[in-house]
Amino acid sequence: MKKKIYIAGAGGMLGEAFHSVFKEEYELKCTDKDVNENWLSFLDFREFEQYKKDVTDFNPDYLFHLGAYTDLEYCELNQDDTYLTNTTSVENAVYIANQLNIPLLYISTAGIFDGKKEFYDDWDEPNPLGHYARSKYMGERYVRENAKRYIICRAGWMMGGGPKKDKKFINKLIKQLVKGTRELHVVNDKDGTPTFTVDFAKNVKLLFEKEYWGLYNLVCNGETSRREVAEELVNILGLSEEVTFKEVSSDYFKDTYFAPRPTSERLINKKLTLRDLNIMRDWKVALREYIDNYYAEFLEENLPATKETISL
Ligand SMILES: NC(=O)c1ccc[n+]([C@@H]2O[C@H](COP(=O)([O-])OP(=O)(O)OC[C@H]3O[C@@H](n4cnc5c(N)ncnc54)[C@H](OP(=O)(O)O)[C@@H]3O)[C@@H](O)[C@H]2O)c1
Repeated sequence: MKKKIYIAGAGGMLGEAFHSVFKEEYELKCTDKDVNENWLSFLDFREFEQYKKDVTDFNPDYLFHLGAYTDLEYCELNQDDTYLTNTTSVENAVYIANQLNIPLLYISTAGIFDGKKEFYDDWDEPNPLGHYARSKYMGERYVRENAKRYIICRAGWMMGGGPKKDKKFINKLIKQLVKGTRELHVVNDKDGTPTFTVDFAKNVKLLFEKEYWGLYNLVCNGETSRREVAEELVNILGLSEEVTFKEVSSDYFKDTYFAPRPTSERLINKKLTLRDLNIMRDWKVALREYIDNYYAEFLEENLPATKETISL
């Protein structure tokens, strides 16, 4: 008999990877308010009674609460909706998991730190700057203080989902290149740690199998910056000769990206490493695999100049 996992908010970047990594060995029920796959059904996890009923009916061995609003600007402008989605919904999840006496997975973020330190390990004290970060940190605290058994994993700059689902940096850069931009404006004052969704899901799977409950930083190995990630992407795409970079400070984008962001949100997987459970790979290796596995077809159609370098 396969163990059962209920995954809430599974329609996004991370949900795609969780579905593909867990589907063979576990029986899954994946839900979202955006039903964009045939393996998803509808559930708005802000609705406590419906959430409780849907999970209880499935009777899972684990509850994974994945979904959130991840657009920092939306969160600054829509604070009530943000706390309802990112924080009180997590209280719903804790209640349900405790009532069914099952472990809960919650995804936190590197963005909960204030950026005053260069690196953050699992025991550093968060100090969120904006409402997205605060709403996620309050979710994290609620889980830590109230869930009977839990795993909390803090992710960094997410890379995943491919052209259809990736809402973040990699896809934004690729979209610009597809549009014909050959001078990329990239900030020189933001440091972080990329996190490939597939590697993240595999490491989460290992933690659940070992039953090592608790809080973990969980990012790709190797510290970096927005500038270096952009350069590596262009290099992987084989466009280094054509593309130039214009270094700007975050001020340059202040009208579009007005939400506060820490200067450094670099995480170190200290606890995972100490427990000998850190199977995350270097971010450059993960980025290359991400592009190969998720973008080959899209790039062949939309950016044929890259064909030589992507394994099709
Ligand atoms: N993306 C990152 O860089 C990053 C970094 C660190 C941590 N995280 C965390 O990782 C988790 C997964 O994020 P992601 O990158 O996969 O984001 P994503 O691609 O936006 O996926 C999140 C999914 O949750 C859904 N959702 C939002 N509100 C919901 C609700 N009330 N009921 C049901 N589903 C709802 C979203 O639907 P809609 O699209 O309709 O809103 C979306 O399909 C989140 O907890 C996020 O905070 C993300």
